[in-house]
Amino acid sequence: MKVCIVGASGKLGQYMVQHALDRGYQVVGVCRAKSVDKLSHFKGRITIVAGATNDTRVIKQGVAECDGVLCVLVPWGVDNYAAGTAQAVLDHAPPDARLVFSCGWHITRDGLDVYSWPFIWLLKVVGWLGRLARIVDIDDQVEAARRVFESDSRWTIVRGSDLEEGKSQGLPAWSKHVGDPVLKSNITRRVDFALFMVEALKNENLVHQVPAIVGCKTPSAVSRVAD
Ligand SMILES: NC(=O)c1ccc[n+]([C@@H]2O[C@H](COP(=O)([O-])OP(=O)(O)OC[C@H]3O[C@@H](n4cnc5c(N)ncnc54)[C@H](OP(=O)(O)O)[C@@H]3O)[C@@H](O)[C@H]2O)c1
Repeated sequence: MKVCIVGASGKLGQYMVQHALDRGYQVVGVCRAKSVDKLSHFKGRITIVAGATNDTRVIKQGVAECDGVLCVLVPWGVDNYAAGTAQAVLDHAPPDARLVFSCGWHITRDGLDVYSWPFIWLLKVVGWLGRLARIVDIDDQVEAARRVFESDSRWTIVRGSDLEEGKSQGLPAWSKHVGDPVLKSNITRRVDFALFMVEALKNENLVHQVPAIVGCKTPSAVSRVAD
């Protein structure tokens, strides 16, 4: 299996590279030129395509002949970086490729997610301040997700809870909707977020799903199993 990891040099990206290599996959990592050194510990084991992830030429080269694409969607800046990245992947990945995108719980597909007031306010404040400082544009990730939802490709969007570092606890639990009691603990190890993304490549049940995830050892996930 040949997979392209778009955003490979980030924290989530590097965990995904390791999980993919552990499975014996051939890995192509796409990252910004200034971040190539962050992948030096994978030297000789992966192919790197350097460039902006919303550059269609860069993505076209990265995803060529890939069976799967793992794409980190981040709303950096105010130039539609996330939407441009998603669009480039949708336009250039082979038609049968499995496409798995990452984002946060705030993305909703059917409007049936239930958010707490603190979450809604935090999103509003971060969104407002981020745009004011021209650092992040949350709406850009919303637009990226909208384009993915409308596509005919074999996509999954994995929605991450709050994240922490630490040893793997195993494949996260997930639900179709934020607000489900199983997600109440709202914390996932980053390494396990990456694990869920990589495992999704081969999980046909997740095609056209928008799973919201939580660590499998968190109180809310454990109490669901005990039910
Ligand atoms: N952080 C959280 O608590 C959290 C919670 C829920 C969901 N998520 C989701 O998890 C995914 C990754 O999150 P993460 O926290 O683990 O971050 P991360 O792995 O550090 O990923 C950040 C990515 O953004 C790129 N990036 C950073 N600054 C940039 C800039 N100015 N312009 C363009 N690209 C830039 C990084 O590339 P370089 O290596 O080139 O810098 C890297 O690929 C995202 O999809 C996010 O929505 C995160």
